[in-house]
Amino acid sequence: MLFVVAMLAVLTARAAGDRRRRPDPTIGYEDPETGHELKCTLCPAGTRAKAPCTRTQPTDCAPCRPGYYTKHRNFLDRCLPCRAPCDHNQRERQECTPTTDRVCGCAPGYYWRAEQCMRHTRCAPGFGAKRNGTEHQDTECTKCPHGTFSEGNSEHAQCISHTGCTSPQFKVLQGTSWHDDICASCTQLSNGGHTALLRDHLPKFFVHENMKVRKLKKIVRFLGKQTQTRRLKLKDATSRQLIQYITDLTKAQDEELWKLPEMMESLQLHKTAKKLKKICTDLVNSSNCK
Ligand SMILES: *[C@@H]1O[C@H](CO)[C@@H](O)[C@H](O)[C@H]1NC(C)=O
Ligand SMILES: *[C@@H]1O[C@H](CO)[C@@H](O)[C@H](O)[C@H]1NC(C)=O
Repeated sequence: MLFVVAMLAVLTARAAGDRRRRPDPTIGYEDPETGHELKCTLCPAGTRAKAPCTRTQPTDCAPCRPGYYTKHRNFLDRCLPCRAPCDHNQRERQECTPTTDRVCGCAPGYYWRAEQCMRHTRCAPGFGAKRNGTEHQDTECTKCPHGTFSEGNSEHAQCISHTGCTSPQFKVLQGTSWHDDICASCTQLSNGGHTALLRDHLPKFFVHENMKVRKLKKIVRFLGKQTQTRRLKLKDATSRQLIQYITDLTKAQDEELWKLPEMMESLQLHKTAKKLKKICTDLVNSSNCK
């Protein structure tokens, strides 16, 4: 009876001790010299087992070198290498420390899809961002409703109302889903104003037309021949560069600019030629200026 009571006392004391501080976890390890099974303590996170315990010495734990980590108690002889630095389209969410591996997330402007960070879609001209992209979702673009526009090529731009024109300016060109109302006064128009407006409008027009690079090159080559400018390196040109070339090439001569629809017609770019022609006539016909 006395024995049982004593035994209970010991068990209670142990339980109390456990609650205060758990003994360090150990792992069975066979001493290679004696063949005896030893109980080696595990090394804490952030360190590794440089040498296992012996009968007289505890496990020798050494800290992980920079670039290496251990997340848990362990008996590893080497720390684990942190994953490679984050890509340019990623950002570091968790640093590589002795106790943590590096964690990469998508950088602002990118979202996670198909195991990689993809750039948020920029809504095309005529489309506004109904919902901005997040780290997990792409931008949601929506067609601009009547009376609103977005010049596009932006991840954030929303459709906004046409601004309208105030006197002495009047509407030279009605706004569409991809551009605002174009306004001018008679004073502006009398000094080559039409040409300035058309030149301003042209890049937006080409972007909205979303013309193939091949077709844009056709136009640039043609204009290049006519205006005798330096030879352009067209091979790897992007559509943005090509549109810039066209605008630059027509800068020299106003007449070239107004002849663009005709010229595109001769290059068999009928659909685009027709649309540009309409813009040209609308621009010219809009004013009642003397
Ligand atoms: C998207 O982000 C831009 C800029 O951060 C902000 O101005 C706009 O209101 C946001 N759009 C929506 C739909 O929340
Ligand atoms: C523009 O004006 C020209 C003459 O100035 C005329 O022939 C043409 O029909 C007009 N176009 C429109 C769309 O009003």
